[in-house]
Amino acid sequence: MATIAIASDHAGVALKAELVDELKKLGHSPLDLGPSDTASVDYPDFAAKACAEVTAGRAALGVLICGTGIGMSITANKVHGIRAALCHTEFEARVTRLHNDANVLCLGSRVIGGALATEIMKVFLAGSFEGGRHAKRVEKITQLEAKR
Ligand code: RB5
Repeated sequence: MATIAIASDHAGVALKAELVDELKKLGHSPLDLGPSDTASVDYPDFAAKACAEVTAGRAALGVLICGTGIGMSITANKVHGIRAALCHTEFEARVTRLHNDANVLCLGSRVIGGALATEIMKVFLAGSFEGGRHAKRVEKITQLEAKR
């Protein structure tokens, strides 16, 4: 079982609470980085907090939620060492762990419902990197990051 960093913006607070409960049920330790209410906030601030936990190794994986999941994924993918995947299906969640070694899951609370988001998160958390031919591709992503 693992420490999972989780954060949202105001649009994702309710879904975040559901997912925090689910993480506990699964035996994980959710690190809830806020926000704790629905007052308007800026999603990059919360993406940055969760990504910092992942890149520092204090969390194994991250989960980020905003209205579309897009703002969170754009932001998270600016952070060195983060490979964030916006997922709408369990298939995407499974394959992004296998092929992209994604370490942050992004979800859109205004796009998918809580039950689907929960299933997607479960698949994402249970997945692992396949390596092999995918390793050199992920390495190329890392090399691109180094040029920034
Ligand atoms: C907030 O209104 C909304 O812009 C945000 O949750 C997200 O969808 C951004 O990508």
